[in-house]
Amino acid sequence: MNFTIIAGIGKYVPENIVTNEDLTKVMDTSDAWIQERTGIRERRYATRFEETTATIGANAAKVAMARANVTASDIDFVIFATLSPDYYFPGCGVLIQRMLGLKEVGALDVRNQCSGFVYALSIGDQFIKTGMYKNVLVIGAEVHSYALDFSTRGRNVSVIFGDGAGAVVLQPSPTKDRGILSTHLHSDGADAEILSMPNPGFHAGVHNPKWKPPQPDAPYGNMFITQELLDKEDLFPYMDGQAVFKRAVIKMPEVIYEALNQNGYKPEDLKLLVPHQANLRIAQFVQQKLNLRDNQVFNNIQKYGNTTAASVPLALCEAWEAGKVKEGDLVCLSAFGSGFTWASALMKW
Ligand code: ACO
Repeated sequence: MNFTIIAGIGKYVPENIVTNEDLTKVMDTSDAWIQERTGIRERRYATRFEETTATIGANAAKVAMARANVTASDIDFVIFATLSPDYYFPGCGVLIQRMLGLKEVGALDVRNQCSGFVYALSIGDQFIKTGMYKNVLVIGAEVHSYALDFSTRGRNVSVIFGDGAGAVVLQPSPTKDRGILSTHLHSDGADAEILSMPNPGFHAGVHNPKWKPPQPDAPYGNMFITQELLDKEDLFPYMDGQAVFKRAVIKMPEVIYEALNQNGYKPEDLKLLVPHQANLRIAQFVQQKLNLRDNQVFNNIQKYGNTTAASVPLALCEAWEAGKVKEGDLVCLSAFGSGFTWASALMKW
């Protein structure tokens, strides 16, 4: 059996920075409320008519591929995790295949929201472990800004989410002492609607050059908005924030302990925990529960908000770029999100 390593990692965030102060100009909120409740200071919003979930995912993928020293012809399989696909169907996996000029390889979309990237990583790991593929491209990307409710009704959700992308190239480990040790996937659909969006939302048509927005001057990415659509609550994400908080702070530590216990490690052995960037308070709670030092946990939600499926690879990439993750380090990734779904991955980098 092969161990799987992350041979290359990349990220991409749109240039457009939207601060909390900027949001106060389009909705009833404040910098103090957002920072105190979530830790977020700013987030990125995609450039309208130019950037989509697939295009920003492709940008991150190119960086990961260059760092892994592979070209399009080397990629054997693509896994794309997102909750904000360009189209209701087909998925972003095939769009990436086209954009990057990959061979006619398999392309899979994973729809597991904030846990999507860790699920996708786990799937890719199985293909490498069994020897079926040598280079698996795994992407987590989101463009939330096109589908947020900037009215007072949706402010608890819209201040949290941001746009971004992260990607990795998975390969068989050259040695037995490096690679993904185990992954742990869970779900419980009993409260599926607590964090949900019943309808596809506002992404449809972003690739159609003939498509014309009804209100091109609408704030930020909400280019499809008409009053009639705004009145339909089920076109926007819904979240019972306190219910999400309560479940996240139980399930995230649980699934991290599951990974550590299975491999005979303790929290103090971790070089770095990269938790899903849901909310700084959730990450701090998890840190406290595991009794981890500040330098054992990496957070960047302050700069990017919650980018759901992109948040773990985006944070992992920044941690790696900052030199916080080095070869042989014990690293844990963990996530919790809509579904509910939760997951972890433990690896020797
Ligand atoms: N700005 C100002 N006021 C706001 C905002 C806002 N953006 N959003 C809500 N409020 C108001 C509400 O209207 C309410 O006012 P009222 O008391 O006059 O009725 C008040 O703030 C409190 O509202 P709550 O919804 O009870 O706010 P809470 O203190 O629970 O904070 C939050 C909301 C931040 C979402 C919190 O519940 C939380 O941290 N939840 C965790 C959920 C989370 O992190 N989700 C991330 C996405 S899911 C994931 O990634 C797993």
